[in-house]
Amino acid sequence: MTGTGLPMTVPVAGLPARVRVHEVGARDGLQNEKSVVPTEVKAEFIRRLAVAGLSTIEATSFVHPKWVPQLADAEQLFPLLGEIADIGDVALPVLVPNERGLDRALALGARSIAVFGSATETFAARNLNRTVDESLAMFEPVVARARAAGVQVRGYLSMCFGDPWEGAVPLAQVVRVARALRDLGCDELSLGDTIGVATPGHVVALLAALNGAGVPTDAIGVHFHDTYGQALSNTLAALQQGVTTVDASAGGLGGCPYAKSATGNLATEDLVWMLDGLGVETGVDLGALTATSVWMAEQLGRPSPSRTVRALSHKE
Ligand code: HMG
Ligand code: MG
Repeated sequence: MTGTGLPMTVPVAGLPARVRVHEVGARDGLQNEKSVVPTEVKAEFIRRLAVAGLSTIEATSFVHPKWVPQLADAEQLFPLLGEIADIGDVALPVLVPNERGLDRALALGARSIAVFGSATETFAARNLNRTVDESLAMFEPVVARARAAGVQVRGYLSMCFGDPWEGAVPLAQVVRVARALRDLGCDELSLGDTIGVATPGHVVALLAALNGAGVPTDAIGVHFHDTYGQALSNTLAALQQGVTTVDASAGGLGGCPYAKSATGNLATEDLVWMLDGLGVETGVDLGALTATSVWMAEQLGRPSPSRTVRALSHKE
């Protein structure tokens, strides 16, 4: 620590010059919080994230409100974000599982969406009420219509590194669904370690297998949950393989309904601390981001689980 609230910058060879942080706190974080956050507080959270320099902020989900009650206010929230899109050209992706969700998102002017598939049958059934192939069929018209409308499409792929019901997930099984999402037309894939069990060698092996199947690393983002404290190590391994898009959640918000001890996604502050130290550009102001997470923790009535937020906001 330099005394300025930032790490000393010591670059290392073999890393990208710049990383795009795909901020998921308002969606993946809040969907897993016990309390339902008021719509105005969500809008203010997203506004503060944009001011802190995050250029991609996943805003909400247009899913069935009974499946994710925490995000049932998508219709009320999205229109409140109009001005935020102008702060430094911020993208506000939303999750869309089917055509009904796409209609809702397009009606409100969404310009970036994400479909979300699973590498395993059990999670596909529990999350989407479909088999893996049925969910791909459900996404097909969504991706086609979104692309025809000039809307960016991300394809999430959950349970890439392990599944709480099925255990180990073979690389070939992940590659098959990843390839299918690419073939549907997803611009980018996000590899989800939904329960946080991945380790760095596994990350390197999956990226190599995907490359071998024709999925280029520059079309891949990584989405690590930090259940076993591996999220940063896994991220560094991915960066060394050329990945430049990393998902993270401000303040480490969230958890996972399928791994009770899960601490949520990789905290954005922990990620930015490491990247600042490595001299990798993110455009994020760590002080402003930390202040945002401290404010959000007050709204939720509990301290942030992010080590970096705790360290930077600690008062003697
Ligand atoms: P279903 O029950 O099979 O839906 O759910 P359906 O197609 O049979 O339709 C039933 C009713 O729901 C119909 O209404 C539809 O209109 C309505 P009715 O005709 O009976 O009155 N409906 C909708 N209403 C509003 N918005 C919609 C919608 N779709 C149907 N979009 C469904 C299928 C996909 C809808 C449901 O399973 C669902 O909403 N799932 C969402 C689950 C979810 O959001 N999970 C969290 C995101 S994934 C994640 O967090 C992982 C990730 O972070 C990566 C990682 O960590 O791995 C991304
Ligand atoms: Mg997630």
